[in-house]
Formats: sequence, structure tokens, C-alpha cells
Amino acid sequence: MIYNCPSSRDSAIAIDRHDILAHAREAFDLEGGLIYLVGHSLGPATHNALDALNQSAKYDWRRGLVRSWNSAGWFTLAKTTGARLARLVGARQQEVMIADSVSANIFKLASAALSAGLSASTTLIIEEDEFPTDQYITEALSTLQGAAFQRVEAGTGVAAMQETGGILIRSLVNYRNAERRDMAAEEKLARKAGGLIIWDLSHATGVIEVALNKAGAKLATGCTYKYLNGGPGAPSFLYVEKDLIEKLESPMPGWMGHASPFTFDPEYTPAGDITRFANGTPPILSLAALSGALEAFEALDISLVAAKARVLGDLVTSRARDIGLTVGSPLQGKDRGGHVSFSHPHAHEIVRALAARNILADFRAPDTIRFGLSPLFLRFIDVWDAMDALADILETESWDKEEYRERAAVT
Ligand SMILES: Cc1ncc(COP(=O)(O)O)c(C=O)c1O
Repeated sequence: MIYNCPSSRDSAIAIDRHDILAHAREAFDLEGGLIYLVGHSLGPATHNALDALNQSAKYDWRRGLVRSWNSAGWFTLAKTTGARLARLVGARQQEVMIADSVSANIFKLASAALSAGLSASTTLIIEEDEFPTDQYITEALSTLQGAAFQRVEAGTGVAAMQETGGILIRSLVNYRNAERRDMAAEEKLARKAGGLIIWDLSHATGVIEVALNKAGAKLATGCTYKYLNGGPGAPSFLYVEKDLIEKLESPMPGWMGHASPFTFDPEYTPAGDITRFANGTPPILSLAALSGALEAFEALDISLVAAKARVLGDLVTSRARDIGLTVGSPLQGKDRGGHVSFSHPHAHEIVRALAARNILADFRAPDTIRFGLSPLFLRFIDVWDAMDALADILETESWDKEEYRERAAVT
């Protein structure tokens, strides 16, 4: 065990002192005194991301102007940034690119898979507790393509895929309770049944080990604004296994996915590489920030990051249970992603009371509190102190204030 779970505030300080990942925090531009438990929702800015954004806006845009498409590498930035990210999901560099949102990429990948006949049947399957956008997109696509659609009970998606040989849209880590799935085992079942899994890696990338190639995964997508700290609205990534790239065609064949966009050919010819999944002009400033943010991961061993996340999670689950909260996440670290959720009838007010103490966590309706445990910048002492604050808020009922009941548009 690289990390031990602290049993006191002093032991949390001692563990931080010997933490081999402690230096990773220096990459972040964090406000002093803030405990940020929302890195699984919007990762904080790194100095490198801000510098890259500044460089891109102040020099490449302001001075380089249109020349920067060539001179600053803008034209290939979606591909080069994808290549940089590939190691974090256990993929080859040529199998990953940055494009669009997770919502759009699920649409593109599932539609391409349906058209190419990658699965024994065309049934699209999703569990009812998947992230809502995954459900909306999957159902809408089934209507558009005349494919059968099954929204199945939580925990029964893999069985439905085995039964039908259809396409299952599946998160590696559940957004609500952090339950983690066994990608290799489920891919094996998919192969046996003639089914296909399209992985949503949003809550996994940058916090647990993801081994797409090793598991034999075919298709995946995921957010970059969470644990990868790419910035608000940073574009997502998509992965296509190398032997499938040329077999799949995007249902949105825009000019940036063309083999040679600047020939302005009226006929579409898809690019021979992963860029065939691009459609329109990429958001260069966001891509620049993401590319800078990924530098924080460059020399890091992701298995160490995952080990720290597990123990930070153990600390939250054990202390949450001690103070009488119902933990909704798996108690065993190996079964959990990078966040821990627990429920309380006054979850919203509690999250607001934490924010008043400069501790940011998130609330998911109706009664869930989530603590995201980004190992690059969080220390054990931060989590220890956050749990102390939570215990105090519950004991004193200081959450019980009118102002904490008011709900903002984004919670
Ligand atoms: C699991 C999961 N999938 C998809 C999304 C949405 O992704 P996007 O906004 O890029 O479409 C989120 C956003 O938080 C998410 O948590």
C-alpha cells in the first residue's frame, strides 16, 4: 500500500509530507484556503493551461492571426492533443482525438457503429441511471435510425447486451455513486455475445487507470473538463480502436473530417485517420488550454494517482459513516471511481453551508452530496478538514438557514 488512510489530523499531515504526488499540486493556480472537492465536475486551472490560453489568445490569435493555423499548429491541435491524452486511457496515440462534446461523440460513435454493423443486433441499450445526456442521445438516435431502444434497470445493461447482441452505452464510473465497472470482463462478454460497448469515460479519465487497448475496447468518449482540468466547456475526446478507424464513417461528415479540407471538394472523402470524426472548426482557445492542462499529467504514473484517489475515498467513506451519513458509493476502493457520494434529506443546504466555509462540494438532486477527490491537488489534510466541517455542520445544524434553501440554476 503506497498510501495509508489517516486516523487523525496529525497523521493526515504526516501522509501529505511523504506524498510522492505532493509536487503535482504546484501545477495548479489555487486560491489559498479553498478546499475544492469539485474537480470531478470542473477541474481547477493549472498555470500551464492559463499560459497556453494566454499564448494562444495574445500572440497566436492577436498577432499571428490566420497564419497561426499553420504556424501555431492550430490545424492539427485536435489530433496532437488527443495523442497527448491517449496514454491516460491506455490507447495508442493515433486512436484518440479531441472533438465536440461527449453528447455529440456518443451520437457519432453509436451511429457509425450501427451503420457499419459492428454488433449482432441494432438494439441500443442504456441503463436508467446513466448520465441523462447519454440517455437522451441514445434514445433520439434509435428513433432517427429506426433501431430498437431499451432503457433497462440499473445493473442489467450487460445482461441485456448479452441477450440481444446490441450496443450498450456505458459509463466506466457512474456519475452519481462512483460505482466502477470491470471494462476487461465486460468487453469479453460483449465479444462473446456479438455486442458492443461504447464507453463513457467522463468520470474515470485522469483519476483511475483506464486500459482501453488492454481490455479490447472498441469505442469510447469522455469529458476533459473534469479530472483533466481542461477548463469550462473544454471539448471532449473520442477513441476508436485502430482497426476500426477506416471502417467507420461519421454521421456528421463536416469539412474538418475530410481527407483534404482545403481542396474544397464538393464530394466528401473521409480522412484516413481519426480526424474523420471531426466535423466543423475546432475551438482553438479551449484546445490550447486543454493541451496546457495535460502537462500536469505528463510525468505522472496514473496508477499512483489512482492509489491516492482510492485512499482519499476511503477516508471520506469511513468518516462519513462515523458521522451517520448514508454512503451511496462502494466502500471498497477498488470498486469506486474518484468521487464519493452520500445522501441526506438536506443535502442542498449542507453543500451551501460547506461553501460558506470555503469548501466547495456538489449537490445532485434530490438528496446527494458528492465529494470529488482529485489526487493531483488535494491533500489528505484538505479532506480531513472538510470532513470535520461536515461533522460540525451536521451536529450544530448550521445548515438550517433560509438562505441555504435557495437554489441556483447550476447546483
Ligand atoms: C458521465 C457523463 N457523461 C456525459 C456528460 C456530459 O458531457 P458533455 O457536456 O460533454 O456532452 C457528463 C457531464 O458531466 C457526464 O458526467
